[in-house]
Amino acid sequence: MSQPNEPAAQDRTPHEQWTAVDAFFDEALVRPSEDFAAIRRAAAEAEMPAIEVSAAQGKFLALMVQITGARRILEVGTLAGFSTLWLARAAGPDGKIITCEFEPKHAEVARRNLEAAGVGERVEIKVGPAADSLQSLLDVGGADEPFDLVFLDADKVNNPVYLEFALKMSRKGTVIIGDNVVRGGGVLDSVSEDPDIQGTRRFLQAQGENPALEATALQTVGMKGWDGFSLALVK
Ligand code: DHB
Ligand code: MG
Repeated sequence: MSQPNEPAAQDRTPHEQWTAVDAFFDEALVRPSEDFAAIRRAAAEAEMPAIEVSAAQGKFLALMVQITGARRILEVGTLAGFSTLWLARAAGPDGKIITCEFEPKHAEVARRNLEAAGVGERVEIKVGPAADSLQSLLDVGGADEPFDLVFLDADKVNNPVYLEFALKMSRKGTVIIGDNVVRGGGVLDSVSEDPDIQGTRRFLQAQGENPALEATALQTVGMKGWDGFSLALVK
């Protein structure tokens, strides 16, 4: 319902309209538990960037976990644990989430948030450059059991590297999801000097060229602007 002080729909910018629709979806459908708002508050208090997925996107990830029956999940890019909590709740008490975070301070905030939300036992946070964490996971045989679902949401420049690791730790049927593959249309700029754009382009091209993957990408608008997810299935 529109509030008395809100501008009429036609007077709002597209971003304001997308954000209002996300608010309606949150209320009508997503109905996030209080833990998610608590994570946002803790992240703001710790002065962390507010770049986590939206609640609607988090629930989309949770539904992907439930639809596929995923139990072993790899996340790259923990931040304050917002998407981690969606994934962990959906995986259930037998779930195991390994999540990689570059910043020790962010990992500490995430650890507290996930413990407060009651999923601390099913989440392992690996701190440091994700490529190093993933290499050591491979070295110690920690990925002998493949992941069922992978969510890549860290530094975009390294997404091609993370994709390679994900493939080494996958099986037939593993689902690989990448966040932020559109970036307001920035992905189109083939001569961009932004390493994140180049990384995103290579990440998508590598999926398309890999005969072991069936992949697509979906554009999204919402409170996070114009962006999108890639989705791939290991054949
Ligand atoms: C940024 C990173 C993200 O993962 C995201 O979803 C939005 C923005 C960023 O680095 O700016
Ligand atoms: Mg993201």
